[in-house]
Amino acid sequence: MSEKKRCIGILTSGGDAPGMNAAIRAVTRTAIYNGFSVKGIYRGYKGLIDNDIVDFKTQNVSNIIQMGGTILKTARCKEFTTPEGRKIAYENMKKHGIDAIVAIGGDGTLTGARVFATEFNFPIIGIPGTIDNDLYGTDRTIGYDTALNTIMECVDKIRDTATSHERLFFIEVMGRDAGFLALNGAIAAGAEAAIIPEISTEVDQLEELINNGFRKSKNSSIVLVAESPHTGGAIHLAERVKAEFPKYDVRVSILGHLQRGGSPTAEDRILASRMGEAAISALLDDQRNVMIGVRNNEIVYVPFSKAIKYDKPINRDLLNTLKTLSI
Ligand code: F6P
Repeated sequence: MSEKKRCIGILTSGGDAPGMNAAIRAVTRTAIYNGFSVKGIYRGYKGLIDNDIVDFKTQNVSNIIQMGGTILKTARCKEFTTPEGRKIAYENMKKHGIDAIVAIGGDGTLTGARVFATEFNFPIIGIPGTIDNDLYGTDRTIGYDTALNTIMECVDKIRDTATSHERLFFIEVMGRDAGFLALNGAIAAGAEAAIIPEISTEVDQLEELINNGFRKSKNSSIVLVAESPHTGGAIHLAERVKAEFPKYDVRVSILGHLQRGGSPTAEDRILASRMGEAAISALLDDQRNVMIGVRNNEIVYVPFSKAIKYDKPINRDLLNTLKTLSI
């Protein structure tokens, strides 16, 4: 990063994810280590508009690596989607002497970052922080591993009661139109199937499941469902089964926001620490408007245009794995 860029603003935006604090810590400490000053921006882009910006020292990020959520708070900010809102944001940024921003969040955060950076011609580096794991160009997003482990633990518990009562459970997990949590959660928890949006648009997965001899050899079953209009959601699927198979004792469990909380796993803390450090390295190398990613365990820099534009594909082999193991 050239001499005149000396102050870095950091924000978290959109849905929170475990590991965001570890990323805030890594960005802050790497920046200070390299001689920059750091400003913490509260509530994402909303804090830029509301001028909720404070100095960040190394002590501000002490004892946070183990904490879920984000100490910077987060928001989804409508005003920032307008040119007027972004102008106010830019003016406040300049008032604080901020020359570059590191934005931690998901798809919406990076979309906002891209527009903002292009409009005012300054560098923004994105760090993928979302439990959904749905950003193109990175194998993993911060928070995904923790959420996956949470799902696995929840399903393990539901399995106890499902088995005792010989019930069929539809368990709905988050993912905002992406099936990573549902598919990998199903494999990790030994579920019977995963109903995911990527496939729902091609075939009626429930019908396929039934035609394949669904519950032939088992008294209890667990099906993970990704939240999405494409899957219809767990309640809708349960209603369909109840109508077709009145003898089945069907229950629904929607895991909801508990999937977003909790102390980050070691994997998420390490990922966040590496990505936070890489964000500052990117600025030092005069990179701009890129998202930090990790591919095959190596740090990569993904242009915002790609990370936002393309849908990250699921690994379809995993569907076969799940099918084979659920006989
Ligand atoms: O993007 C993360 C996520 O948790 C999605 O999985 C979910 O659809 C959404 O956020 C929920 O958002 P909110 O907390 O605003 O209800």
